[in-house]
Amino acid sequence: MVKVDLSGAAAFFTSAGPNYALAEVAHKMLTERSGLGAEFTGWLELPQRVKATELDDILAAAQLIRSRSKALVVVGIGGSYLGARGAIELLKPYPGPGDPRILFVGNMLSADALGGTLELLGDADFDVNVISKSGTTLEPAVSFRIFRELLEKKYGDKADEHIFATTDAHRGVLKSLADAHGWKTFVVPDDVGGRFSVLSAVGLLPMAVAGIDVRRVIDAAQAEFQALDLRSPENPAWKYAAARQHLYGKGYNIEILACYEPSFRFMAEWWKQLYGESEGKDGKGIFPASVEFTADLHSMGQFIQSGPRTLMESVVRFSHSRRCYPFPFEAEDTDGLNYLAGRDIAEVSHVAADAVKEAHVAGGVPNIVIEVPMRDEEGFAALVCFFELACAISGYMSGVNPFDQPGVEAYKKNMFRMLGKPGAK
Ligand code: PA5
Repeated sequence: MVKVDLSGAAAFFTSAGPNYALAEVAHKMLTERSGLGAEFTGWLELPQRVKATELDDILAAAQLIRSRSKALVVVGIGGSYLGARGAIELLKPYPGPGDPRILFVGNMLSADALGGTLELLGDADFDVNVISKSGTTLEPAVSFRIFRELLEKKYGDKADEHIFATTDAHRGVLKSLADAHGWKTFVVPDDVGGRFSVLSAVGLLPMAVAGIDVRRVIDAAQAEFQALDLRSPENPAWKYAAARQHLYGKGYNIEILACYEPSFRFMAEWWKQLYGESEGKDGKGIFPASVEFTADLHSMGQFIQSGPRTLMESVVRFSHSRRCYPFPFEAEDTDGLNYLAGRDIAEVSHVAADAVKEAHVAGGVPNIVIEVPMRDEEGFAALVCFFELACAISGYMSGVNPFDQPGVEAYKKNMFRMLGKPGAK
């Protein structure tokens, strides 16, 4: 389990402190399926379900793709790509020699980005994993048509063998297309919303193709969800959910998620969607933003230290580094850095994190530390389970349905009308 340290937030709590009793009620609503959106809580059982159904198939498909292709083009948007991208950038930021490149499209409507990806792909062998639960989202549909055309030009009547569709088990345009063409399909379960789907085939197939050990991820996630069933204020998900709701009640309505690993960038994007889409509704919600330390201390540090006091800061810290890099000694010490000689860069980073915490807390920014043992498969699983559970608990604590996203439809309606889609008003 991750560890949550609230010592940097305690000075900002009122004497009552975080409302753990409400966190307990919210947790109960979730597991007893008595809360709003209970029909979308299947993510709690994804690890065991995936093992019993699709995991072997996912591994076989990944092996096939790895053996024949230089790239996997992943077509998807929002919950249909952010988890996989977060995992791959976190765990495989520097692909090994045998690892196919994972190229993400379908998450924008940019001719330049699409053209750039096509150029990057060149004439390399590739496969496509198109991911859309609804099967009707415009951005991935546009990219998919373009990459399907490319597959057809390249592989002719074998093109269909290079398409893997992850979609609803029964409904939608993508499902109908997949059935008509005989594409290999994987399922986005009915009871799992996009932003909670990373531990299904949605996240696991691209992760496995990238060379991540997804069986390790799933085994760890199963154990994590069990451990997180703890009904006590010691539960890190209760701590995090209750602390941020308490701080929100005191006017801290923006949360910045920070990490000292640059490879965490897309995990933060995944987290932003998870919390933004789950909590930002009915006029309520903590605005989720992210920063990358130490880089952003040199761009956003001023604002965090001295801007409006509406920010709370949650910092993901990995206790152990995957690499050791002792700082070199230099006899002449021309740059005056010998006081660091022999110390590991990871140690320097931990000291920097402590120094930043002290400064930000003194400057009026409540600080929550989320500590993960290692940037590995188990660490990734621990983060996913923790953030998902805490998000659901936090959403229920604030009285919203954390599992719907009605607001996302507004722009789509206008866009379809303006683009002249038949029947759009
Ligand atoms: O979390 C969600 O439900 C959304 O972000 C969706 O994942 C996103 O809109 C993509 O939808 P779909 O998978 O239906 O194409």
